[in-house]
Amino acid sequence: MFETVFHNNPGGIVMKSAGLVVITAALCLGFTAIYDEDEVPDYTLPDPLVTEDGEPVTDAEMWRDVRRPEIAALFEEHVYGEWLPEPPYMRFQVVDEDPDALDGLATRRQVVIHLSEERDRPAIELLLYTPNDVDGPAPGFLYLAFWGNQTMHTDPAIRVSTRWMRGHGEGVEDNIATLASRGARMETVPVETILERGYAIATFYYGDAAPDDYDRYRREILSLFLDEDEERPDDHTGAIGAWAWGLSRCLDYLETVDAVDHEQVAVLGHSRLGKTALWAGAMDERFGMVISNNSGCGGAALSRRRFGERVVRINDSCPHWFCRNFRQYNEREDELPVDQHMLVALAAPRPVYVASATEDRWADPKGEFLAAYHAGPVYELLGEEPLPVDEMPEPGVGAHGTAGYHIREGSHALTEMDWGMYLDFADKHFTR
Ligand code: GCU
Repeated sequence: MFETVFHNNPGGIVMKSAGLVVITAALCLGFTAIYDEDEVPDYTLPDPLVTEDGEPVTDAEMWRDVRRPEIAALFEEHVYGEWLPEPPYMRFQVVDEDPDALDGLATRRQVVIHLSEERDRPAIELLLYTPNDVDGPAPGFLYLAFWGNQTMHTDPAIRVSTRWMRGHGEGVEDNIATLASRGARMETVPVETILERGYAIATFYYGDAAPDDYDRYRREILSLFLDEDEERPDDHTGAIGAWAWGLSRCLDYLETVDAVDHEQVAVLGHSRLGKTALWAGAMDERFGMVISNNSGCGGAALSRRRFGERVVRINDSCPHWFCRNFRQYNEREDELPVDQHMLVALAAPRPVYVASATEDRWADPKGEFLAAYHAGPVYELLGEEPLPVDEMPEPGVGAHGTAGYHIREGSHALTEMDWGMYLDFADKHFTR
């Protein structure tokens, strides 16, 4: 069965450039998603444990010294673009600190991570709650968010983002958040539950790092590295790379906070930000755990399966997300020197988690599962437990080795149930 997709864009990217609207519309009209396993083509995955020279990777040292860097470089060149260098400038400005936030449950900090000496921006506004009722530094989650810190909780002290937002969504008018956005996305992060279970939670709005819009994405972090009128080189990072690099800057700050156990910070994102979490975790090994929720094409889903969204569609509808080289693989997935199981494997030996939802066919739940599964040999080589199952578990049942997976009943979303799994997984792997 084939299904033609006209406006299947659940995340709701709105292209502002008139030219692009036309191109995108034309390409999308012709795009037919595969939603039937019988239509999935035969494919052979590249072997994460064979080097580019064809040599088998036989021990941890060879993985670390040869194959891991090779795979990371392949993803940089062909998929996400080069990882950006260290920031030319960085200053942490703590603008708020309240040891008695959320009725005493937590300490709240808000910090502006300045990345330019001369200008106010780029700057990342990070919100951090650390639990009060713990002994010693708390492990935590760094969650990359879609809509501004104030949407995470009704806590009236949270600063309202003044940044450009995509144009639709509760509490956003003319691309700017209004006060009505306070707490509007509370269902995506159960802040109190996380704190009560002894974890810190930090979050920032991804648009601080790069506005999610073809005409704007170069205006923040990327402006530090590319001049306005300079053409983006084919292997230069796109928005996903900028978002991921922003996550690393937050970890730089978290390393300075005594209340946070910075070696045990899980990086977590949903959907396009799940792709971003995987890329951040791959390139910044300081993250102690990597969690991708419903990340789909260009995230955990195997590109070669071509199920649901595929490379050509994502490059056409979101041309600013990946590096330009990725476009060479439109309808030529088999020629990619990597597939997404190798991205999951770059998290090894650290705990990694991939999660899907039953109705989220656009993101190819089975492809997400298989990427986590096929990262297994790398986990085994490093003496860690791969996914403990070789078939997709029933909905609602977690399969938790050092690599973890679950599929939830329902649609494309990050829910309390998903968080419950992530907290259990963190309990299993993080120590206190
Ligand atoms: C679109 C896009 C997906 C992405 C999603 C989201 O659906 O096609 O690749 O994951 O938006 O980020 O919400």
